[in-house]
Amino acid sequence: MKKSDLVVKPLDLSFGAHVHGIKLAEISDTDFSDLYQIWLQYGLLIFTDQWLTRTEQIKFAKRFGALEFEIAALSNVLEDGTLRPDNDTDEVIQVLKGNMGWHHDSTYMPVQAKGAVFSAEEVPSSGGATGFADMRAAYNALDDQLRQKIENLRAHHSLYHSQQKVGHKGTRGSHQGGFDAQKEDTYAGYGFHDGPVSIRPLVKAHPETGEKNLLIGRHAYNVIGMSSAESELLLQQLVDFSCQHPRIYHHEWKPGETVVWDNRRLMHQATPWPMNERRVMWHSRIAGSPQSELALTK
Ligand SMILES: [Fe+2]
Repeated sequence: MKKSDLVVKPLDLSFGAHVHGIKLAEISDTDFSDLYQIWLQYGLLIFTDQWLTRTEQIKFAKRFGALEFEIAALSNVLEDGTLRPDNDTDEVIQVLKGNMGWHHDSTYMPVQAKGAVFSAEEVPSSGGATGFADMRAAYNALDDQLRQKIENLRAHHSLYHSQQKVGHKGTRGSHQGGFDAQKEDTYAGYGFHDGPVSIRPLVKAHPETGEKNLLIGRHAYNVIGMSSAESELLLQQLVDFSCQHPRIYHHEWKPGETVVWDNRRLMHQATPWPMNERRVMWHSRIAGSPQSELALTK
């Protein structure tokens, strides 16, 4: 059997690794099988000089499982090449700004995402890093009292809620059946659905590693059994505690790079960049398993 070509260089943190020695567009089954195990181990893998086309990115993302959506531009550039207006009238900008709060993807959906493949096509001269935070290490670092307090708590998760907190009243989207990523405006409506609000535990075992992780972030609110003020305080306390050294990493992007993260373990955040500069990123979202990532109903 062919020996794997992968070279893994872990970050000096509780998670994350650079992986060299492969081209994701042509990864073999053997290498992918090794890569998947490394992904589960480190939670975040970073690959330089990949330059994936959209088709190649979708194909690579599908190796991790079915996709929640194939690919979406996270960008301040319009299809005609001009920049989006940096103001409250542009829904994509409002969602991009909302995403500067720490979060797991799609906790507001009936099924939380498994992970994501994210690539840089154009990056600004400064800013625009993506932050990642290790919720497994955060859970393990909690003191016993807090760990016991939250062990069986559940919170609501909603994109309406999280966007309202940053001053954006979301319009209803058509999440049923996904959306057309070529029509970038439609991304702004993604996740504003009107089904039952998802309820999720604050502590959740990872379905593949069995390790416990905090499941919190900007979409979480109204912990069941608490006043909304008490809930807000607790959730913020957990985010503040979790998202600090050595449990966070901010990736400064270079064009051509790709990362893949485990959304069941990590939270992430966007960071500001000069909005008069172009930033074009491509996001493919890997669907969670309904067996393990389905929201609770109460
Ligand atoms: Fe996100």
